[in-house]
Amino acid sequence: MTEARGRIEVLQGVNLDMLGERDPLHYGSLTLAGLDVQIVAWGKELDLRVSCFQTNAESEYVERLHSLRGQVEGVVLNPGAWSHYAYAIHDALELTGLPAVEVHLSDIQSREPWRRLSVIGDLCLATYSGKGPEGYRLALLRLREALDASRP
Ligand code: DQA
Repeated sequence: MTEARGRIEVLQGVNLDMLGERDPLHYGSLTLAGLDVQIVAWGKELDLRVSCFQTNAESEYVERLHSLRGQVEGVVLNPGAWSHYAYAIHDALELTGLPAVEVHLSDIQSREPWRRLSVIGDLCLATYSGKGPEGYRLALLRLREALDASRP
């Protein structure tokens, strides 16, 4: 059994540390710490060991992606506003070669036009947008299915 087996990283991007203070109409009232606890618990139900990471620095987000190679079997990304323009994150995700799922708490398709584009969507198995915290559970479930399908 490899070290990476069953490990998933959840990568939260810019301004996600401010959950609980951001507009609850879009983002709900859960803090990031509360969300992390919920995500880890959902992971356990799916026999996944989930670690959560957040940064407001794009370079750290990219470097974290670089570091994941060989360490985890999948990644869940909510890059926040970077989702809409940060091609460096696209390229870093691509080079990990990891199965990935994108999550947005709010529905990015029904907000301002500039939010409609996701630069990582083409690399992801699925995108869950507008489902609140539940989107992270669905993302873990999608990765669980992908891992199960890839086992001999
Ligand atoms: C977000 C949506 C983005 O447009 C926004 O910039 C965020 C959060 C979401 O989770 O709904 O910071 O990714």
